[in-house]
Amino acid sequence: MQMPHIQIRNVSKYYGSVKALHNVDLDIEDGEYVVLLGPSGCGKTTLLKIVAGTVEPSSGHVSLAGRDLTRLPPEDRGIGFVFQNYALFPHLSALENASYGRLARGEAPEKAHRIGQEMLKLVHLAERADAIPKELSGGMQQRLAIARALATGSKLLLLDEPTNALDAHIRTELREELRRMAKQLGLTVVHVTHDQEEAMALADKIVIMRQGKILQAGTPKEVYEHPATPFVANFLGEANFLRVTFEDDRAQLLGRPVEARLRGPHIACIRPESLRLDDKGAKIRILGSRAFGPFYKYDVDYNGLSLRVRATHDKSDATHVSFDPADVLYFSEPDEGLEKALSAV
Ligand SMILES: Nc1ncnc2c1ncn2[C@@H]1O[C@H](COP(=O)(O)OP(=O)(O)O)[C@@H](O)[C@H]1O
Ligand SMILES: [Mg+2]
Repeated sequence: MQMPHIQIRNVSKYYGSVKALHNVDLDIEDGEYVVLLGPSGCGKTTLLKIVAGTVEPSSGHVSLAGRDLTRLPPEDRGIGFVFQNYALFPHLSALENASYGRLARGEAPEKAHRIGQEMLKLVHLAERADAIPKELSGGMQQRLAIARALATGSKLLLLDEPTNALDAHIRTELREELRRMAKQLGLTVVHVTHDQEEAMALADKIVIMRQGKILQAGTPKEVYEHPATPFVANFLGEANFLRVTFEDDRAQLLGRPVEARLRGPHIACIRPESLRLDDKGAKIRILGSRAFGPFYKYDVDYNGLSLRVRATHDKSDATHVSFDPADVLYFSEPDEGLEKALSAV
């Protein structure tokens, strides 16, 4: 069996009384594109910096290909890092920026520049090698920061919110570029974001974090279709939560019987796209609607409960809502209560 590329074992990080990370375990395979996803303050950057070596864990271990890294300084880890607020050298050209790491290591300028130029080509900036950062668009600057990290020769790339400062359509473009480059070069990537769409678009493995803990890790399909907790269901897309009570494995949900091997009160979770607006099922009233182009979103009232529904066609005449029981997920009531369990902090 191949050894996991990165092993994170029982890592905690405390800043005084703030628990930034709490007993985190994670395996990252060689060549895997891993996205750390979670709300602001959940510990994503801290975890990334612990892998990079710029933050030391309070306890626990990190190893790379079987070698313990925990006490190894960042410059000896062979990792390319693009920080949340990446700083390009403002007076150096794109080529000089991209070659900087190798030049600083004392490599011959000719070789450093050749590799810098190759990396610029890879991020589609070869034509702009002579431009200084402020002559480049935001998306180009971000790609330059990535080229600079790649030029160090690292096979492991750590990216902290790399598309944050960009316009929506450039962001989508850069995502596709990132995944293409990573796969083309056989890189292992750990990419931090709070944007679930970005995570779904990029990841081989999504790691969902909250309050310094990992709640779930899996492929985008696994975590979307089988969320481990209400928070995960809610954070990855939208979800309607309804209280149900099972008796003899049966309960009533939106005016119809459902079955599951459960007892007592539970929380049923139905995605907006799993609800069908029509003229049969449970009686509803449409409160609001919005056309998004490829789909429509509706706010509907069912017996004083508000539900979100998503449809591929205009359903503004609908009077009822129905669902397929196979599309319902059930959760037990969280100890802290549902509302608290869904909040970021
Ligand atoms: N250097 C620091 N000193 C004190 N607290 C910090 C420091 N860095 C991070 N924290 C705290 O640790 C928690 C996790 O922060 P961070 O890893 O930056 O979260 P994220 O990247 O998910 O937004 C937050 O509560 C943050 O305020
Ligand atoms: Mg952060």
